[in-house]
Amino acid sequence: MAADPKSAVGGTRRPNPAQPWSIEDSRELYGVRAWGKGYFGINAAGHVTVRPDTTERHEIDLHEVVQGLAARDLATPVVVRFSDILAHRLRRLHDAFAQAIAENDYHNGYAAVFPIKVNQQRLVVEEVYRYGREFGFGLEVGSKPELLAVMAMTENAPDRLIVCNGFKDDSYIEAVTLATKLGRTIIPVVENFEELGLILKHAATYQVRPRIGVRVKLSSEGSGRWSASAGDKSKFGLFVSEILELFAVLKSHDMLDCLQLVHCHPGSQLQDIRRVKDAINELAHVYAELRLMGAGLQYLDVGGGLGVDYDGSGTNFTSSMNYTLVEYASDVVYRIASVCNARNIPHPMIISESGRAIAAYHSVLIFDVLGASALDKFQVSGEPATDYQGSEELPQPVQDLFVAYRTVSDRRVVECYHDALTAREQVLQMFNLGLLSLEFRALAERLYWATCARIRDACRKLERLPEELEDLESILSDTYFCNFSVFQSLPDSWAIDQQFPIMPVHRLDERPVRTAVLADITCDSDGKIDHFVSLRDVKRTLELHELHPGEKYYLAVFLVGAYQETLGDLHNLFGDTHVVHVRLHDEGGWWIEEIVKGDTANKVLEYMEYDVAELYPALARDCERAIRDGRMTLAESQAVKRFYEGELDGYAYLEPAGA
Ligand SMILES: Cc1ncc(COP(=O)(O)O)c(C=O)c1O
Repeated sequence: MAADPKSAVGGTRRPNPAQPWSIEDSRELYGVRAWGKGYFGINAAGHVTVRPDTTERHEIDLHEVVQGLAARDLATPVVVRFSDILAHRLRRLHDAFAQAIAENDYHNGYAAVFPIKVNQQRLVVEEVYRYGREFGFGLEVGSKPELLAVMAMTENAPDRLIVCNGFKDDSYIEAVTLATKLGRTIIPVVENFEELGLILKHAATYQVRPRIGVRVKLSSEGSGRWSASAGDKSKFGLFVSEILELFAVLKSHDMLDCLQLVHCHPGSQLQDIRRVKDAINELAHVYAELRLMGAGLQYLDVGGGLGVDYDGSGTNFTSSMNYTLVEYASDVVYRIASVCNARNIPHPMIISESGRAIAAYHSVLIFDVLGASALDKFQVSGEPATDYQGSEELPQPVQDLFVAYRTVSDRRVVECYHDALTAREQVLQMFNLGLLSLEFRALAERLYWATCARIRDACRKLERLPEELEDLESILSDTYFCNFSVFQSLPDSWAIDQQFPIMPVHRLDERPVRTAVLADITCDSDGKIDHFVSLRDVKRTLELHELHPGEKYYLAVFLVGAYQETLGDLHNLFGDTHVVHVRLHDEGGWWIEEIVKGDTANKVLEYMEYDVAELYPALARDCERAIRDGRMTLAESQAVKRFYEGELDGYAYLEPAGA
């Protein structure tokens, strides 16, 4: 079995049950220092804080933001984007490469091109583009629609690089050629050989000298979930022999100066730095060879893949990464420099298509908890005379359950568990044969779960947990019903089991006394979260606070700015949540720069091709028939129509009474 990559991670301080709960305990429990990377923390009031530039001077109280939004009728669920974090990420990336360039005596520059598929929302792309201007960063597109958006966005910006990946048809290449004619620095990356013919055709038609890139099918395989992005079987890129063919074609057209970029994409969320080094090394050698053969190469594009440490463990676990941004930049620059120096060729401009590392941190999803169900709620006294008021004799397995309940002790936990399991099975068999009443079955149910809860409590005092009882804590955990859709807001949690840090937005100065899994409001048993980040392992339950009737309890999911918003779907017709852009105020505090209201029922129905203009008239016709037939008064029919109209224009998510 492979060694657990997190086994080397240092231990965490366990909260002392005898001591009052402190904020420090919450910081440790939720690992916020480790994954928050200075952007997130907890203040003395027990609220989550956001520090967009990681300094104490600029701190936003997230609970205050949630309350501020509620006061503006923006109920949860809501995605809060911290634009200043986005700006800070871009600066960090630039600074890391600037430092590596200086340290390695590298004679060229670096620019990121943001792959807009990571978060195509116009406001996000515009911000990345705006904040990236001072560093000369550009944009990457992977399809024709993305290109059409970027062509307009890069108006009058001839120096901002646009890299075009993805499958390209005739009109995609035509659009690239026209953008070149308009003066853009735009490079189509040839991913399969046919694209070259299209580039040459349109270049001749429009009389432009194209810039051309080529994606290399690396032999060094990627790693992690997206390892298939590289390697011989990867869907994209040219084999080396095809690259030589491309070279020959360009040479025959006297266009070797047009071959300006070599590209690879070793996979997303690269968790192991060795994979990065291998890929860059291979690409740098391809660059060197082509350059020495006479290609006009100027750019070396290392693709995406720079990871995000979602669980904060700093390991090569799938939701983590065993390197830092500074180490990544340093390795990339060093590898390229050493290959070029050895071959005595000029250093290329380094391009990276880092998406996740730029966008993930800046968005937080916040939702309210609607209620909870608990399996340890069943109370029994353990005395048959008290727990059973009937006159019939107790069936044997029910008697056994009473015994199991009463005899739970630290030393007998496993034995009692076995007894309870066996008795419960017998109860079910008897019930299914018609030999046991519903009342006895209900009593057995209460006894069984109460016994399990007692066993769990006894286990909590043990130094070593018996293996067989390891799952008891999660079996007995609560289910917290949360006002959001996993499919809409956290698709990767559902589709690929991606873990995101989650914690309460407030009450972090209070001991969380419940353990829970989260269920969303879709009618789908997959709509749940039952894996949570932890420094040492993956947690099956999350520690949460008891719900107080009439009081809102908010949870936040962090690091959701990459891929989640655009991959989300409309399961059960839960559409986009509200989105707000929160900015730091120069004078201190925060303000809301943008509000994008979530989808109304009308809008999601329209997506599904309902003729929304016909919905209301259909209902109104039925109301009139009901009046005609005397089933409704006019006033009742008006109320129905007003209600229906209001709901069509309302938020698709739950709006609990009194909210
Ligand atoms: C070609 C290409 N470039 C860049 C990226 C962005 O990768 P990441 O978000 O991991 O940086 C991707 C995504 O997989 C990609 O396919």
